[in-house]
Amino acid sequence: MSAFEVRVSATRMITPVIRELSLEALDGTLPAFSAGSHVQLHLPNGKRNAYSLISDPGDTRHYRIAIRLQAHSRGGSRYVHEQLQAGDHVRISAPANLFALHSTARLHILIAAGIGITPFLAHITELLRRSAAFELHYAYRAGVSDAYVETLRERLGERLHVYASGQRRLDLQRVLGQRPLGSHVYACGPQSLLDSVREQSQALGWPSTRVHWEAFTAPEPGEPFRVHLVRSGRQLDVAAEQSLLEALEAAGVELPNLCRGGVCGQCRTPYLQGDVQHRDLFLASDERASSLMPCVSRGCGSPILLDI
Ligand code: FES
Repeated sequence: MSAFEVRVSATRMITPVIRELSLEALDGTLPAFSAGSHVQLHLPNGKRNAYSLISDPGDTRHYRIAIRLQAHSRGGSRYVHEQLQAGDHVRISAPANLFALHSTARLHILIAAGIGITPFLAHITELLRRSAAFELHYAYRAGVSDAYVETLRERLGERLHVYASGQRRLDLQRVLGQRPLGSHVYACGPQSLLDSVREQSQALGWPSTRVHWEAFTAPEPGEPFRVHLVRSGRQLDVAAEQSLLEALEAAGVELPNLCRGGVCGQCRTPYLQGDVQHRDLFLASDERASSLMPCVSRGCGSPILLDI
């Protein structure tokens, strides 16, 4: 995917674990984007992760992204938190949207947990601009992952429903029950939230076409492993802190990719043999016998023979 250079124009801590970056073009303006888009941030240490654009989609003078310091960072979020400074240059991909608003929804129900608030910040700007009917349900840990909650309170008033852990539980049966025909629900947060939204909406009879979600599953570290590229005869060692996709890219093998988190399906790669720990949310179980997602999945035993 093509990438271009931008300047970090400002940084600020939003909570003790969430840092916001403003990015500006080296000259002129940045490419236009739609609400729900993300960019891939290419860091000088070789790490590349996808982050939602949280700024106004109508403003291409700068982009803003917010990054949570991951407890098990492979080096990406830690680099952003500890080393990246205003004035630095980084490369980003052009925006791509895997989480767009539905244009004909009568009511948009947004459900976020923690850093999963990020795609909704641009959504909200867009929904306010359209004077669309919407509400935001936001679960967080107060003082840790409650990014932007005061700003949201001012902007949304009664449309904001907050659930601080230990104080108020997010009751999905209540949030999703008895909703007008034509409502769409959007969820972003940890896997447990996405599973609960899918299960509850299914139980309440929501058509799957009205349930949208975005996972932010940054690849996690694991054990080192080895792959063989059958067609070129090459052999690669994937380090513990590296994804297979990153190892392939470091060796000059470029694969299509959008999310780098195991959800979009773009990086699907055939393999012939080997023990694979599948960590994606895309492949069906029968597809996993012959395909893997190198952005998140890893070897866990005998070397993997990739059919590339
Ligand atoms: S890049 Fe999206 S699934 Fe791998």
